[in-house]
Amino acid sequence: MSIAIRQMEDKDVEEVVSLEASSFLHPWPRKEVLYELHENPCALVYVAEEKGTIVGYIDFMITFDSATISRLAVAALTRKKGVGTLLLTRLLEICCAQKEEPVEWVTLEVRRSNEAALALYKKNGFREVTVKKGYYDDGEDAIYMIRSVIA
Ligand SMILES: CC(C)(COP(=O)(O)OP(=O)(O)OC[C@H]1O[C@@H](n2cnc3c(N)ncnc32)[C@H](O)[C@@H]1OP(=O)(O)O)[C@@H](O)C(=O)NCCC(=O)NCCS
Repeated sequence: MSIAIRQMEDKDVEEVVSLEASSFLHPWPRKEVLYELHENPCALVYVAEEKGTIVGYIDFMITFDSATISRLAVAALTRKKGVGTLLLTRLLEICCAQKEEPVEWVTLEVRRSNEAALALYKKNGFREVTVKKGYYDDGEDAIYMIRSVIA
């Protein structure tokens, strides 16, 4: 499997919207994806591409000394092959490269029921800090996780 991780471009929008739709209970609509790509000044969006097809993406924000993961998704047929880990690794590389305003922490929220994501994050050095009760619109709790950029 040959995967390239690169910054998202306009040509990727439709594939990322499809990935959203097939990955999340409450997927972001096109306008939200476009907002992240073009308008959110803090957002960085990277895609994983295999033979010209988008098989994963990560959207995160860097603010001062921390980065926060907003979205991470891998296409169903490509899961459990290391793509999620590759996207997290790129995020950490980008954080490490911020020399003027060093990024020290990466944080995220994940649904309590999302065993795959919880396992992925734990395997990649994140630890549970707290539970945010009823964090999601449907009332599910979020697990708030953190890791330092330098493990
Ligand atoms: C969570 C998600 C991004 C994982 O992506 P992935 O490319 O499959 O992850 P990786 O292949 O890098 O997995 C790395 C490790 O995570 C854990 N993991 C991943 N998927 C898992 C699953 N379904 N069950 C248990 N552990 C899992 C394993 O420890 C795995 O290591 P291993 O393959 O050596 O066992 C993917 O399942 C996904 O897109 N889910 C839907 C969207 C989502 O929930 N996003 C996260 C929102 S917070």
